[in-house]
Amino acid sequence: MTIIFAHRGASRQRPENTMSAFKRAVEIGAEGIEIDVQLSKDGVPVVIHDRTLKRTTSGKGTVTQTSFEDLSKLDAGSWFSSNFKNECIPSLEEVLIWANQYPDLWLNIELKYYSEYDDQLAKTTIPLIKQLRSEKNTIISSFEHQRLLDVHKLWSKLETAPLYKGNLNEPCKYAKKLKAKALHPQYKLVTESQIKSIHSHGVKIRPYTVNEEKWIRKFLDWEVDGLMTDVPDLALNIMHNKQI
Ligand code: G3P
Ligand code: MG
Repeated sequence: MTIIFAHRGASRQRPENTMSAFKRAVEIGAEGIEIDVQLSKDGVPVVIHDRTLKRTTSGKGTVTQTSFEDLSKLDAGSWFSSNFKNECIPSLEEVLIWANQYPDLWLNIELKYYSEYDDQLAKTTIPLIKQLRSEKNTIISSFEHQRLLDVHKLWSKLETAPLYKGNLNEPCKYAKKLKAKALHPQYKLVTESQIKSIHSHGVKIRPYTVNEEKWIRKFLDWEVDGLMTDVPDLALNIMHNKQI
């Protein structure tokens, strides 16, 4: 069964990485949500994709140079539509507490390594996740593969997954080296035979970011474990064989 992950929440319908995007994802029936996490200047894990505040908020500068208090005051919705001017940058804690009301909801928490606070990111976020959530349906993903070993040291039961573009040489051996239970490749080069081989090694595969109908259909047919998409509504409709 393929889990459909709303990438940054329902990010075509609501401003990405906001509570409104996460709530919308649940409303449309997504079984999983992907979020991006960084630290504020004072070390609070916050949910936002870019290193800088420019594209998705009313602020300036970088996330890691701004205190949590100042980040919380920013408008994280108007860039998307004036209807969302009250949206804020959520803290990871807020998202975790909200997600607790949906015990089966999957959370794919991507650790974004952009800054001088990199060494603190796993050390700060993993204990918080451990405090507020079980390892069930929880994934930590990252493009910084060696950092996944830090995550494993902090909470060995937690599922981790390297994000990557292109092809890996011997992907399952690589996953094992990282102590990762899953692989999260960019979708473009993923083939059915690769999926079969990855599954035969007991490793999961969840391609990102799959937005086109023909690719969504392919990956559902190929029985990937999950897929990240900006259009979870489309993916769920296809999955449930509705007319679209
Ligand atoms: O989880 C996949 C995806 O989030 C990786 O890329 O840049 O959208 O965070 P990005
Ligand atoms: Mg991401």
